[in-house]
Amino acid sequence: MHIAVITETGALETRVAATPETVKKLIALGGSITIEAGAGLASGIPDSDYEAAGATIAKSAKEALKGAEVVLKVRRPSSAEIKLMPKGALVLAIMDPYDNTEALSAMAEAGLVSFAMELMPRITRAQVMDVLSSQANLAGYRAVIDASGEYGRGMPMMMTAAGTVPAAKVFIMGAGVAGLQAIATARRLGAVVTATDVRPAAKEQVASLGAKFVAVEDEEFKQAETAAGYAKPMSAEYQAKQAALVASHIAKQDIVITTALIPGRPAPKLVSEDMVKSMRPGSVIVDLAVERGGNVALSKAGETVLTENGVKILGPLNLPGRIAASASALYAKNLFSFLETMIDKSTKALNLNWDDELVKATNLTRDGAITHPGFQPKA
Ligand code: NAI
Repeated sequence: MHIAVITETGALETRVAATPETVKKLIALGGSITIEAGAGLASGIPDSDYEAAGATIAKSAKEALKGAEVVLKVRRPSSAEIKLMPKGALVLAIMDPYDNTEALSAMAEAGLVSFAMELMPRITRAQVMDVLSSQANLAGYRAVIDASGEYGRGMPMMMTAAGTVPAAKVFIMGAGVAGLQAIATARRLGAVVTATDVRPAAKEQVASLGAKFVAVEDEEFKQAETAAGYAKPMSAEYQAKQAALVASHIAKQDIVITTALIPGRPAPKLVSEDMVKSMRPGSVIVDLAVERGGNVALSKAGETVLTENGVKILGPLNLPGRIAASASALYAKNLFSFLETMIDKSTKALNLNWDDELVKATNLTRDGAITHPGFQPKA
């Protein structure tokens, strides 16, 4: 069972799909692993560490992919990479399948058996394979670190002989995985933290982290969580009530971090231009949803916007990639855990169970076609 790991070629992608730890584990399961030279460097992993773990280093992606039965990647393969992959190879990655039918068709036509890690069901057995959680958690942490770096004042209250520095007021919008870690991180830095969400379950979680919950808690709020644990799109009426509440709150905040998402839809707009204008100069906003359209009116993907009233709005792309060593360690473990379920321990060969709910939920392409019912090309 030959497994290949290549250098990520996407702009800003600093992560890698295997670590020396997962290399060792895969070899123990009967795999032979080839890593493209330099693939781990941006995550702080030199080739020598992979070699010490038992991997072979290949000079190029082409060489690494030769004869590969499994390809581990961070991002969906590019068309150039697809051409180098053997027909029938399993490809595990974050595939970003929404509205990308053409790219999925390209993988299907190349005969790749592709799996989208972000479609992993959020059930207990698959927690260790949940890339959305492992990466969102680090993104939430990094957002607070970046915001505090941009903020021209201190985060904790400091009483000194020369005067008192007040604690920063931090408001987290969206208290899912990223938001909860942002709350925890801001609290550790000594900020006074408030948070909002539309799911009632978030209220207790926010409180348990020592932050105050601020939300419109009407009848719609009580029904806002889907069976899968995600938020529903809220009505225009709810959004208006939410905006009124947020407007008065946000004007008093120093740092706002927005993380609100609804699966498969554009991110909800939560912070209007007027709200940004109401904040005092030196305030910082981080829009974690910027890649999905953004929660903040003035945010720009990949840019820092300085508004006329002196508010900095960060629109970071690939925040987990800004904490690459930790992100790669967790992501590689997620991949290993899923691949492990596809390997027969006695024969040490691949043996996929196509009836397994994890396989069914994540498989995108197989036998030359897009297999996932959610991503079939439109007639
Ligand atoms: P997400 O990334 O889809 O959304 C982030 C947050 O934004 C969510 O908390 C959502 O409720 C909130 N949001 C959406 N629209 C909003 C609006 N208009 N205003 C304010 N907030 C809004 O969510 P994520 O982080 O993936 O987590 C979703 C749920 O799944 C959470 O309850 C989480 O605890 C749960 N979960 C369960 C796991 C399991 O294995 N059982 C693993 C990971 C998460």
